[in-house]
Amino acid sequence: MIDDLPSERSFLIVDDVDGIREALASYVRANGYPNVVEARNGHEALERLRKHRCFLVLTDLTMPGMGGLELVSHVRRDYPDVDVAVITGHLELEFAIQSLKVGAFDFFKKPFRFEEVLATIHRVVEKQHLQRRSLELERLKERRVADESHLKEFMLALAHIIDMKSRYTRQHSDRVSRIAALMSERIGLSKDEIDRIALGARLHDIGKLAIPDCILDKPGPLTADEYAIMKEHPGRGADLCQPIACLAPVVSAIRWHHENLDGTGYPDGLKGEQIPLDARIVRIADYWDAITSNRSYRSPMDPTAAMAVLEQECENGRLDARLTHVLFDLARAGMLRHAVLLPTEFALA
Ligand SMILES: [Fe+2]
Repeated sequence: MIDDLPSERSFLIVDDVDGIREALASYVRANGYPNVVEARNGHEALERLRKHRCFLVLTDLTMPGMGGLELVSHVRRDYPDVDVAVITGHLELEFAIQSLKVGAFDFFKKPFRFEEVLATIHRVVEKQHLQRRSLELERLKERRVADESHLKEFMLALAHIIDMKSRYTRQHSDRVSRIAALMSERIGLSKDEIDRIALGARLHDIGKLAIPDCILDKPGPLTADEYAIMKEHPGRGADLCQPIACLAPVVSAIRWHHENLDGTGYPDGLKGEQIPLDARIVRIADYWDAITSNRSYRSPMDPTAAMAVLEQECENGRLDARLTHVLFDLARAGMLRHAVLLPTEFALA
């Protein structure tokens, strides 16, 4: 892992010839790289690497004790963020090529000019800066994904809290989600589409966070003013989820789950095909659950009566008849009873 800047780390020169080593070290120090460490062979070099954070090792190939080729292998294996370059005599060209094969970044043929070494140091620094930048971007991406998923969990927890606040809506979003998923599956949508619609259904009423409890829990019908406030919840929910990238695909289901095909719904009065499929499915699942479960102002309807109400809504042009009949098929097959924790077990005639 590259955790610090190359400029904060050391350049390690390894050569058993004191004159070359010391002259190169002075030159590099004088040319913008003050942290230079010296070693006379491979063993000393490995010792220096244990004590100093280095960014580049420049090593001679032929040295007493551990030679350069062995050192290159050690460094590449144990210090993957440290680059290595080798210095070679012209009789050792074959070794230089071998060192490239085991991971050396570059090599210099003796006699070499110090400027060439400096140019290579610049290139290594540049390369490591780029690696560091891409690593940081990668980490940022990972963190953003983690943050996003925490935000999603947080929103789901909020949706759950909204349901739990009232004994009449307990598990409402869970049930709507399961019904919507069953409907989506029945019409042959893909797993991704089903998951998206189920998630949108779980969050469909998240905007109720912005609605005062005295309106949400009011026993009996709402006044016109109260109803106007209640009708803000789809838009509020969409606004809440829109900035969270992983929830963007479910915003349409949240915003438009109270739209009617004839344009009489809210908040935007969309008509027909203007209403996305996700929202039309959630609309029907939500409607079904609302009338078949207990509410403060009325008792739950049995499925037969609920089907009659929804059928009427289709005839009035408000609900999508094809999707509503998909729900009826599921109800008749007893699938809603098994898939959903209904407050009362209904038997269909
Ligand atoms: Fe709603």
